[in-house]
Amino acid sequence: MTAPLLETRALTRNFGALLATREVDFRLDAGARHALIGPNGAGKTTLVNLLAGVISPTRGQVLLKGRDITGVGQAERVKLGIARTFQINRLFRGLSVLENVYIAVAERMGVAPSMFRPAGRRTDVVNESMHLLDTLRLTADAGRRVSELPYGRQRLVELAIALALSPEVLLLDEPAAGVPSAESHIILDAIDRLPPEIAVLIIDHDMDLVFRFAQRITVMVSGAVFASGTPREIGADPEVRAVYLGQTARG
Ligand SMILES: Nc1ncnc2c1ncn2[C@@H]1O[C@H](COP(=O)(O)OP(=O)(O)OP(=O)(O)O)[C@@H](O)[C@H]1O
Ligand SMILES: [Mg+2]
Repeated sequence: MTAPLLETRALTRNFGALLATREVDFRLDAGARHALIGPNGAGKTTLVNLLAGVISPTRGQVLLKGRDITGVGQAERVKLGIARTFQINRLFRGLSVLENVYIAVAERMGVAPSMFRPAGRRTDVVNESMHLLDTLRLTADAGRRVSELPYGRQRLVELAIALALSPEVLLLDEPAAGVPSAESHIILDAIDRLPPEIAVLIIDHDMDLVFRFAQRITVMVSGAVFASGTPREIGADPEVRAVYLGQTARG
């Protein structure tokens, strides 16, 4: 059997007395469409932070294609192909959309990440950035300052930045959080159109999105994996319904 793309073994993390991640055995397969769900405070973001190397586990392991990367830092994991978005947006709000994406592409290529000096501006980086904006239907916004964009479009720019790292694994922590419902379809459409070869792990509280998008769903409760299965299995699981789905629109 081939190793999963990304795997955790007995991954555990405490914050003081709080066990935010308890003995989590998780696997993400190549090209997966996988959702991570669970109540507020269940430990979803913490697990993503552990996968991305933002924080270190108290015990347990993270493996990428069978290689132990538990001790590998965040920047190095990005180079290994693990990219993410955040629950709250972290863009350079005073810069243009194109500049934000340019910085990410330039960082990946290891060239100077500045468009400000025209002499240092790289056509290849600009072209790739524009191509990404085109993919996300943001071309018309390329020259606009991020702070001038509606929030939904700002979140699309974040997606563009994560894609600029040309990841094999994309971790999406509530990509549509805070986006008004009238705008949220632009995010969902973009997620639907992500390249199929990228493994996507999405955290979201919108059960319609989750059940439509995911081929596999992992439910976390109190830091532990409560259930994992296909959407059909998870939707039919009476215990999952009792602890989580019962509280949502799907209940
Ligand atoms: N840096 C930290 N220091 C202390 N406690 C933390 C820290 N980060 C998270 N926690 C706690 O760990 C638990 C899990 O938090 P986490 O953010 O992973 O939950 P979540 O499932 O993402 O919730 P939500 O759906 O609200 O985003 C919570 O009790 C939270 O308060
Ligand atoms: Mg969270």
